[in-house]
Amino acid sequence: MSTLWKSRYSLRATEVKSSAIRELLRVSGKPGMISFAGGLPAPEVFPVERFKEACEKVLREHSALALQYGATEGCEVLRAMIARHMARYGIQAHVDNVLITSGSQQALDLIGKLFINSGDRVLVEAPTYLGALQAFSVYGAQYLSVPVDADGLRTELLEDTLRLGPKFMYVLPNFQNPAGVTLSEGRREQLILLADKYGIPVIEDDPYGQLRYEGKHIAPLVVLDRQNMRRDDDFSFGNVIYLSTFSKTLAPGLRLGWIVAPTEVIGKLTQLKQGADLHTSTFTQLMAYEVARGGFLDHHVRQIRKVYRERRDVMLQALAEFFPSEVTWTRPKGGLFLWISLPQGMDSQSLFRSALAENVAFVPGDSFYAIKDRESNRHLRLNFSYCSPAQIREGIRRLSVAVKSQLLQVDVQPV
Ligand SMILES: Cc1ncc(COP(=O)(O)O)c(C=O)c1O
Repeated sequence: MSTLWKSRYSLRATEVKSSAIRELLRVSGKPGMISFAGGLPAPEVFPVERFKEACEKVLREHSALALQYGATEGCEVLRAMIARHMARYGIQAHVDNVLITSGSQQALDLIGKLFINSGDRVLVEAPTYLGALQAFSVYGAQYLSVPVDADGLRTELLEDTLRLGPKFMYVLPNFQNPAGVTLSEGRREQLILLADKYGIPVIEDDPYGQLRYEGKHIAPLVVLDRQNMRRDDDFSFGNVIYLSTFSKTLAPGLRLGWIVAPTEVIGKLTQLKQGADLHTSTFTQLMAYEVARGGFLDHHVRQIRKVYRERRDVMLQALAEFFPSEVTWTRPKGGLFLWISLPQGMDSQSLFRSALAENVAFVPGDSFYAIKDRESNRHLRLNFSYCSPAQIREGIRRLSVAVKSQLLQVDVQPV
């Protein structure tokens, strides 16, 4: 008799749903489809030659280290490089404040494991990164949400929600996934003061911070928090845990991210990571170190900024040219995404079906809302990093056909 696997699943596993995006990626991979759905970097910009040289060197000179078990915290050389790199952006972390993770996604899972008891409330942006909702929901998170606008999280609405005592708030200050918006300097300062006033920790997720195409760098929350505490050089204090990754600057296939936190928190996260995977691949860590060292990462980031800036501009131009005036969109200063808002009466799920018929794909916006309402169905996320400029133009033209035909079928009210 075969085992009834389903009846053995934990409650936690039974409640997990597959990511809408992973499902979509399957549909959108069909031949002839132009996909703005995934958050994929452009494969043409992967520094393949540099990887080949690094691989050769790691195996020739460091095979005993690279192919062996390693420390759960990560390889010392890589952690030190990350600490030096971040110092240039004002984040004065020591090696002991850095934990290497298997992608930022693992960081989100470990944070969920560390902080969330079933039923705990987590404050998120509306919309927010779907992968964080997936990671936190497994631990039974309930959500409170605060909307974003063109200047990021609307901090003027934050205080009432903070009074409800969330366990922590999860914030994406730079070129937010999915909306592409950036938290303004003034709002960052306000957020830090409020986090301090109510004693609510902040998880700052920053995979895109280095992919800025215009405007000036804005200090991360983790830096403003230290300044507020007057403890710039002491990482045992502070309300902010900072996450970043090599996925968007080098290659997501590396599965390499990191957490910056007070040493006490790093210690606890390290214990939890031991149970998850003992440590992130030593081979991959040494590869990333060899690839990134000697200024290569900075040079490479400058190159990819150029490529993505052009693609963003092509998408913005095509939207202005092809889309009807009832539809609006964000104008991201960096990152990989822009966010379209449809007029009331239209919904992104039925648009998605018409778009597939036109051979173009995107992610309907409702996936990115922890708390769904009528509003959440009015948006779509478009990625501009993966397709070539010619495909972007053609994809937006196709999408405009689907949008215009949907518009004719609904009684549109101006927003
Ligand atoms: C906001 C955000 N956080 C985390 C991740 C996960 O990144 P990683 O590839 O490092 O796991 C992503 C990936 O798209 C993201 O957009």
